[in-house]
Amino acid sequence: MKQLIIFASGAGSNAARIISHFQESKEARVVLVVCNKPGAGVINIAERNGIPVLMIEKERFFRGDGYIPQLQQYKPALIILAGFLWKIPTSVIDGFRGRIVNIHPALLPRYGGKGMYGNHVHEAVIAAGDTESGITIHYVDEQYDHGDTIFQARCPVLPGDTADTLAQRIHQLEHTHYPATIERLILNAVRPA
Ligand code: GRF
Repeated sequence: MKQLIIFASGAGSNAARIISHFQESKEARVVLVVCNKPGAGVINIAERNGIPVLMIEKERFFRGDGYIPQLQQYKPALIILAGFLWKIPTSVIDGFRGRIVNIHPALLPRYGGKGMYGNHVHEAVIAAGDTESGITIHYVDEQYDHGDTIFQARCPVLPGDTADTLAQRIHQLEHTHYPATIERLILNAVRPA
């Protein structure tokens, strides 16, 4: 059984979909949720599913051992970022090279980078007059939203869309495709584009 670790610090709707997708799987299981934000919705989701939560703090993550020994105990097949806003330090990337993936709510390389998260992304897409947006699932490297693309899906930006209505459409795409893409990665059925 392969072990999956989710890093999340927000509402956790993607984490919830991934946890339930693998609950009955014979291939993999979510064994740990890592969170940096006390009170985040994802903590309740993990607890309801009996998954331990590791609360991390900045100093140790960026300037200490990066929690690497603790994470390595699980021998994770993948570390899945799902709404985790801190940059991943090089030490952690090196410790799990090629095994860290992220989802971004836009079609990278556009609308990525520092400060491009949540509704900031959707506001920028709407302000640019784009007629299409989407999601990007990619490997994580040292730069924000930069590693090799694994998967993209598209959706229209409709006249009259606000950041919130576009965010809803994007969230649906994420919920459909993130668990399935992780499953294909685990089965080695996809390689980066
Ligand atoms: C998602 O839109 C994802 O693309 C981004 O953060 C958001 C997390 O949402 N990286 P949720 O916490 O999974 O609901």
